[in-house]
Amino acid sequence: MPVHPRTTADVLVVGGGIIGLVTAWRAAQRGLRTVLADPDPGGGAAQVAAGMLAAVTELHYGEETLLGLNLASARRYPDFVAELEEASGQDTGYRACGTLAVALDADDRAHLRELHALQRRCGLDSVWLTGRDCRRLEPMLAPGVRGGLRVDGDHQIDPRRLASALLVACERAGVAFHRAWATRLTVDGNRATGALLGPPGTPPGESPAGASPEPAGVSHEVDADQVVLAAGSLSGRLAGVPDEILPPVRPVKGQVLRLAVPAPRAPFLSRTVRAVVRGSQVYLVPRANGELVVGATSEELGWDTTVTAGGVYELLRDAHELVPGITELPLTETRAGLRPGSPDNAPLLGPTELPGLLLATGHYRNGVLLTPVTGDALADALVSGELPEEARPFTPHRFSPARQEASV
Ligand code: GLY
Repeated sequence: MPVHPRTTADVLVVGGGIIGLVTAWRAAQRGLRTVLADPDPGGGAAQVAAGMLAAVTELHYGEETLLGLNLASARRYPDFVAELEEASGQDTGYRACGTLAVALDADDRAHLRELHALQRRCGLDSVWLTGRDCRRLEPMLAPGVRGGLRVDGDHQIDPRRLASALLVACERAGVAFHRAWATRLTVDGNRATGALLGPPGTPPGESPAGASPEPAGVSHEVDADQVVLAAGSLSGRLAGVPDEILPPVRPVKGQVLRLAVPAPRAPFLSRTVRAVVRGSQVYLVPRANGELVVGATSEELGWDTTVTAGGVYELLRDAHELVPGITELPLTETRAGLRPGSPDNAPLLGPTELPGLLLATGHYRNGVLLTPVTGDALADALVSGELPEEARPFTPHRFSPARQEASV
């Protein structure tokens, strides 16, 4: 038997994106000895995401239950940011700037009217504006804008700064970091007991085609009373997790651009501006520091994170239709990330049917928005074994094979 260095902990968090980091921070604050495994904590989707906190403008039919969780998290944001900035000494780039969703043609306008009706049925604050009113609010908008929705409660945060602040807050709260992939969950009898960590490099499941995702080597072992799998789109690939427990998450690629608004200029846009153009979402998120984030494609292409000419072209074409002046701005960055999509577009939170294993994954389009409520829900589940009321609809049990057979 090989002998690895071992660490013991109350909680092992697998994955150091913003969801893993907030879970680790909240667990440590509750007095749990917490270890987090990730080769690059704070990396991943947080480095790509635009950071819209868009509970109202990203409302979709059939997602009213998710709306409740999204709103609960949005309400928590101001206090969460104040606490995190205090704990980390870092600015998170949170801006309570609101959002304007606009229509460019008659079809978009009909679509936006439908969204407005749904928002009103759900009791949400959203105001219909004429095209002229939209341009009065945002003079850089195209003259052809046909109308829009002003949503003063949908804000933004800079996910890169959020990740950085969470990392520092975790360190200050005593979270121990292992900069390595977890390559296998360890299970003893019917209980998760920790994980094997590999050498830096190969992510879980990145084995040659057809081979089972076995660890290439083990450099460390963590024994933990509870393990939280929070590895974003990779969460379904951790070896050792029984098949019926593996979370049904898949990667959904998003390409995102960053532009720069030169410093001495008046604000280019004062709030997030978004539209659906020919069926594709496009949004422009203006940061206080002059960065303008333009997103995002939505592509079901597996693990591909290539930035393509077509993706960049479509984003720039659609953003240019909305705000023609963007073509003058320097293009500073193009990048693609992977959203962790789940079968019902909602996250999987809390205990699984394998004692000792919890999930915090599948946040899909809402990872940044759901960060505060996820941290609180997972901390409750780790301490008490129970999810708080608001998070119960998102239990992983809803996808368990037994439950699904019973409902057929
Ligand atoms: N929530 C924005 C996106 O997923 O593109």
